[in-house]
Amino acid sequence: MKIGAYDFITKPITLDSINVVMDRYVKYQQLLDETNYWRSESNRDYDFRNIIGESASMQQVFETIKMIAASKATVLIKGESGTGKELIARAIHYNSDRSHQPFIKNNCAALPEGLIESELFGHEKGAFTGALRNTKGRFELADLGTLLLDEISEMNPTLQAKLLRVLQEEEFEKIGSSETVSIDVRIIATTNRDLKEKIKENLFREDLYYRLNVVPIFIPPLRERKEDITFLVGHFIEKYNKANKKNIKNLTPQAIEVLMAHDWPGNVRELENTIQRAVVISKDPVLDIEHLTLTESRHTSAEEITVVHKNKKLEDIERETILSVLKAHNGNRKTTAEILGINERTLRNKLNQYREKGYYKD
Ligand SMILES: Nc1ncnc2c1ncn2[C@@H]1O[C@H](COP(=O)(O)OP(=O)(O)OP(=O)(O)O)[C@@H](O)[C@H]1O
Ligand SMILES: [Mg+2]
Repeated sequence: MKIGAYDFITKPITLDSINVVMDRYVKYQQLLDETNYWRSESNRDYDFRNIIGESASMQQVFETIKMIAASKATVLIKGESGTGKELIARAIHYNSDRSHQPFIKNNCAALPEGLIESELFGHEKGAFTGALRNTKGRFELADLGTLLLDEISEMNPTLQAKLLRVLQEEEFEKIGSSETVSIDVRIIATTNRDLKEKIKENLFREDLYYRLNVVPIFIPPLRERKEDITFLVGHFIEKYNKANKKNIKNLTPQAIEVLMAHDWPGNVRELENTIQRAVVISKDPVLDIEHLTLTESRHTSAEEITVVHKNKKLEDIERETILSVLKAHNGNRKTTAEILGINERTLRNKLNQYREKGYYKD
């Protein structure tokens, strides 16, 4: 037993006694496996299990996060809409020793000026009409934890000055109060605007910029790291399979080609929405082009158009249109021809061709 036997059996040996011990051992082993699994899973969380990024630029972002997460350094995350700024901000918090303390988010663009100030700093009862009770602001709520200031570029100059003081001195006064509140909060700010430009236009304080930009993190747009697309797609298929009790296995090569050619103006969020929709509507275990609805935009590249139409010629579009109108009108050729503006003879010829190729049966 000392050197590791799980149990022992005393003589005389019966089959029953062996069974009892074996059962117990199997259960014990299962428990052990589960515990180990659970432990490795929670470690994997710290390895950013849910943040996908195989590209060199994302690996660089992960390296930075690992290096600075534990510290209290202020972080400024820059990147286009939908690139994953909030996801990264949360990863930083949950990889810091503040992870058991609150993570509080404040969107600087969502509220009118007056409200934001009281949201951030809180107010005393009676400080203004409608201030019915003392209220804690986000800074106080985030004490000992992390405060995410989303879309920092939209913060007005008065608040920028107040924020600067909080960053420098870790203290402030609530609205309507002269008492100074001290806090210990880590600040993470995000922006999808170019703050340097805003500084030039006198819309953003330069001193605040340098206070925030202690650790700059730039998340590149998805179109500049297309090697991440297939990994993200796999991740989202798994996610939405689970959520919708579906069993999508993979994508056709054509569908992958289309995804790779798209420019993703909405970045990872757009890709996630595309896959979610495809998983929900697909009746087959394999996603194909027909399940993908991509936003047409000025970003649509020549490459993408080429890929889509390499797999879908004009005659395919024509055939799909003709057959769907015919079906909608229960096979009535006269009506179909009328609707599509062709004569019945042309329609009949086309249907004959489709029949030969197996696209259509009367
Ligand atoms: N690398 C990634 N791995 C997995 N999911 C991601 C990744 N990047 C972004 N996402 C997902 O994409 C969506 C958008 O991410 P997030 O909200 O963090 O973007 P954002 O940069 O804050 O966007 P916005 O500027 O519009 O606020 C989320 O559902 C997020 O989980
Ligand atoms: Mg965001």
